[in-house]
Amino acid sequence: MLILSFETSCDETAAAVTRDGRCVLSDEILSQCDRHALYGGVVPEIASRAHVEAITGLADLALRRAGVGRGDIGAIAVTYAPGLIGALLAGVSFAKGAAFSLGVPLVPVHHIAGHIAANYIAFPELAPPFVCLIVSGGNSLIADVRGYTDIRVVGRTRDDAAGECFDKVARALGLGYPGGALLDELARSGNDRAYKLPRAAIEGSAYDMSFSGVKSAAINIINGARARGEQMDKPSLAASLSAAISDALVPRVMSAARLLGYGNIAIAGGVAANARIRKDFERAALECGRSLYMPPAALCGDNAAMIGCQGYYEFLAGTRADMSLNAQASLEL
Ligand code: KG4
Repeated sequence: MLILSFETSCDETAAAVTRDGRCVLSDEILSQCDRHALYGGVVPEIASRAHVEAITGLADLALRRAGVGRGDIGAIAVTYAPGLIGALLAGVSFAKGAAFSLGVPLVPVHHIAGHIAANYIAFPELAPPFVCLIVSGGNSLIADVRGYTDIRVVGRTRDDAAGECFDKVARALGLGYPGGALLDELARSGNDRAYKLPRAAIEGSAYDMSFSGVKSAAINIINGARARGEQMDKPSLAASLSAAISDALVPRVMSAARLLGYGNIAIAGGVAANARIRKDFERAALECGRSLYMPPAALCGDNAAMIGCQGYYEFLAGTRADMSLNAQASLEL
């Protein structure tokens, strides 16, 4: 079955055509980064308007690049939660119109479940159960993926997401927005022990995480150096921050896999593209003999193919929405 899918939860407008959940026929993404860079972060009102401007053209482009017509589409899938409410509404409203006019089912998809499903596209052999770390600009959580539509949260950040931490430190360093990838690049030539950054533990919760302390500590180092007129070693701060974030993520995920008795571990979300985190996961998985699934960077960030993939499994499970479907800014998995 062919699914036309949409993703507009933050600052990427995306449309894709996928077949039977695993095969991507087209995957179109229009990033709004340039529009938000001036402000150092996503401006929700600008994001909503940009989605409305782009989504019709992107839907047509996705169909054209896939080489299929509107009549070939069997269902519409759309991200309906969580995310920026106005941005989500742009996608949900368009998807409702598309499903109604084509006379096909409308399948709502949770954004985080979509990120997990990026792994099904990258690794055709992967099937639940497995443990998945989802780390993005707005979310950081560890999930027990028991089935394609049976996902339980094992641990989550108590405050900032890992991506938020990368972005805010990058901004303080004057690197621009979004800063995660730029900071990652910078870290490659740095010394990861040059700056002491905290590793937070949450009392009574082995799998929950906290990133606000490490974010504040890194920003304090930058502000302190600036006040004293000292030269910052930017690559080393980037490397030290990447190491601190990786140290918070990797052992928790490995421990969750041990606890659940799973042999497969996957990672997802924009921050999963980080070189240090990927290297640490590779080493940890090798040490404990578990299989590791890490999608290519293009599938880590927001895209609509992952929504089409999860949408297929939701469709098989009987998930449907009618024209009363609403967007939700926050919603548990
Ligand atoms: O999944 P995503 O595209 O959007 C959300 O759903 O949030 O993730 C975006 C986040 C941003 O915070 C961005 O700075 C971060 O992922 N990011 C990275 C890297 N590439 C993107 N963070 C660290 N290292 C990277 N290579």
